[in-house]
Amino acid sequence: MELVTLDGLSSRLNVIKSFTDMSDPQDVDSLVSQLRPRLRNVVGTTIGKGGEGKTTVTANLAAVLAEAEQARADQGLPSKPILYIELDSNGNGRLNFGVRNRPFDDNGLGFVEALTEDKDFQVVQGVRPHLDMVMSGSHNSDIPTAVTKLNDKHGVASYLLLAILLAQISHRYRWILLDFSPGDKMIQRLGLAACTHLLAPMRGSDNAVIEGLGTLAGLVGQIRRLNPEVTIAALVFLGYMKRNDVATSQLTNLREKIGMLLDRARISREVLVDPYIRDGETTANLARNHGMPAGEFARATTGKLRHPESGEPVERPRDENGRLVDPQRALDIAADYSQVATHVVKRIRQRNQELQGVRAA
Ligand SMILES: Nc1ncnc2c1ncn2[C@@H]1O[C@H](COP(=O)(O)OP(=O)(O)O)[C@@H](O)[C@H]1O
Ligand SMILES: [Mg+2]
Repeated sequence: MELVTLDGLSSRLNVIKSFTDMSDPQDVDSLVSQLRPRLRNVVGTTIGKGGEGKTTVTANLAAVLAEAEQARADQGLPSKPILYIELDSNGNGRLNFGVRNRPFDDNGLGFVEALTEDKDFQVVQGVRPHLDMVMSGSHNSDIPTAVTKLNDKHGVASYLLLAILLAQISHRYRWILLDFSPGDKMIQRLGLAACTHLLAPMRGSDNAVIEGLGTLAGLVGQIRRLNPEVTIAALVFLGYMKRNDVATSQLTNLREKIGMLLDRARISREVLVDPYIRDGETTANLARNHGMPAGEFARATTGKLRHPESGEPVERPRDENGRLVDPQRALDIAADYSQVATHVVKRIRQRNQELQGVRAA
């Protein structure tokens, strides 16, 4: 893996700076409609504040989707990499891929400067086969101040900063996965303006899940002007029990409660992704501590994972007491992520077809 500059990009700030507070709102609309068709492969994961599973789910989906692209490449089919971008300043996604403290780990400095100062946009290429990622970390907390400053002078167009950047690189990627928490308003606006599809992990108590969903629906409403296309595309349940391969009544009841809310809001129940990620906090934490997404971690527990360079088998992971990790839960969770990914991609492709249809009509 190596840090590479995606070149040929034009100034994002010049676009923003062509606007003032007094600009004709129609000029913003016309920028939005130019950007929109180029952002249809951008999927945002957002809900709640922290610990909801945004990073776990997004990093794992990125890994599954990248493997699928690699498999296409192996069959001689056209393929494109996946790009994973985390906007939150904890930069936990680095842990999921085991790249924390690598030489290119700059705690998000490069990304923040690319975003807010038009510097070169760099990605870590080949974090896994067909998977690139943007480094993030403590520097990401400088984004809100920079965007606020732009907003003071140039108005709402400033919230399109990330959208303008991603619209220039989206053709290089099959999917761009954007992981951000709605806690900070500026980050939230940048993220919501840049993606077309939203994925929300649902984890925890019924009340927390329902409240989180309500908040998210409100945010989607508020960003309409800057992004008329974004909708909640997929609700992914995480951490619920599965007995003999079927959901327990806890999840079935929760899904029904949410289903009724969706009906009332005239949102299709299809957003409720049928497969879900079963409970496995210990396994999830171990996988993250080993710097491996679920599928890789599962292969490691069975002794089937090999070092990409040396080809040597990777030592089987152990828990904090030094015991070998039981492969079963890891294999089950990896299988859950594959199923969820298939379902989510199908939903998003359908929605994109609808969006393209609207445009053609
Ligand atoms: N399958 C699972 N079952 C139960 N808990 C899980 C599972 N996967 C992840 N978790 C837990 O959920 C939390 C999610 O953390 P994280 O993905 O960093 O959330 P966020 O990005 O929303 O802050 C972690 O504490 C992790 O241990
Ligand atoms: Mg996170």
